[in-house]
Amino acid sequence: MLQNMNMKQQQHFLPFSVVVLLFLLHCTTTLAQPAAAPAPPGPTNVTKILEKAGQFTLFIRLLKATSVSDQIDHQLNDTNNGMTLFAPTDNAFSSLSSGTLNSLNDQQKVALIQFHVIPTYIALSQFQTVSNPLRTNAGDSSRYKYPLNVTTFGNSVNVSSGITNTSVSGSVYSDGQLAVYQVDKVLLPWDLFGAKPPAPAPAPAKPKKRKADAVADAPEDAKVDNSSATSLMTTQTILFFGIAHAVVAAIFSL
Ligand SMILES: *[C@@H]1O[C@H](CO)[C@@H](O)[C@H](O)[C@H]1NC(C)=O
Ligand SMILES: *[C@@H]1O[C@H](CO)[C@@H](O)[C@H](O)[C@H]1NC(C)=O
Ligand SMILES: *[C@@H]1O[C@H](CO)[C@@H](O)[C@H](O)[C@H]1NC(C)=O
Ligand SMILES: *[C@@H]1O[C@H](CO)[C@@H](O)[C@H](O)[C@H]1NC(C)=O
Ligand SMILES: *[C@@H]1O[C@H](CO)[C@@H](O)[C@H](O)[C@H]1NC(C)=O
Ligand SMILES: *[C@@H]1O[C@H](CO)[C@@H](O)[C@H](O)[C@H]1NC(C)=O
Repeated sequence: MLQNMNMKQQQHFLPFSVVVLLFLLHCTTTLAQPAAAPAPPGPTNVTKILEKAGQFTLFIRLLKATSVSDQIDHQLNDTNNGMTLFAPTDNAFSSLSSGTLNSLNDQQKVALIQFHVIPTYIALSQFQTVSNPLRTNAGDSSRYKYPLNVTTFGNSVNVSSGITNTSVSGSVYSDGQLAVYQVDKVLLPWDLFGAKPPAPAPAPAKPKKRKADAVADAPEDAKVDNSSATSLMTTQTILFFGIAHAVVAAIFSL
């Protein structure tokens, strides 16, 4: 509690850029990599591609801190599906409201970054025909989880997570295996930033199995108020007589 309050104060008193820096310091062990020696031609190196493009330093640091960059490199090497990245610019990260990233634990940070990775290669022209929602490396693309939709209009490609709407503002890299597109907003997934889904509607009673279930579900059923318990009973009774009637009718028709 006390720690939380301190955190809050820190966020209020420190300029946002400093908070971002603190966050990065917190989650990267090595902030500055020594200048890379010219790499021999080999497997695709996604961080290298982003470094070359410039203006993705924060995304690169998060890719490394969460080890998602290794995941991408391995997936590129190990599968033939290729890969597509939506890379938010440094501006995209600095325009997030204060505390957005700090509110996430390590596992959630991994999910956030994986949400920007599609495990298939999608050329710019293919966006018109992809089916929504796209599946990302963050997993479950069902509603309230990690859905990511793409809509196209002429040459423009819009990306929507249900929380964040943005459009692809440039193609950074494409080699038939890996495509990297620039986006000007960080794509915030519903599972981490959206409202919690409404409680599922009570499943319609299935009278036939209900009796057996009632034993296992006892604690939950105990909470059911008397009136609906009564109506459940009535349904069962009606169904029982319905079946009994059908059986009798069947016997007599033989
Ligand atoms: C990818 O490139 C970065 C920088 O260009 C380098 O630090 C890293 O070691 C490279 N990774 C691999 C697997 O070669
Ligand atoms: C790439 O995959 C091959 C097997 O398909 C494997 O032998 C090689 O070690 C992998 N390289 C990297 C850098 O993961
Ligand atoms: C794409 O997003 C822009 C704003 O970023 C909006 O003006 C446009 O209507 C959107 N197009 C589609 C097809 O959703
Ligand atoms: C994404 O597309 C699916 C399928 O068309 C749709 O059901 C869903 O509402 C869309 N979600 C968003 C956030 O646009
Ligand atoms: C985002 O775009 C979807 C259509 O893809 C639209 O239904 C929704 O209202 C937009 N949300 C915001 C916050 O602009
Ligand atoms: C529900 O049943 C319990 C015990 O059978 C009884 O004490 C209670 O008053 C009933 N509640 C209502 C709302 O009828």
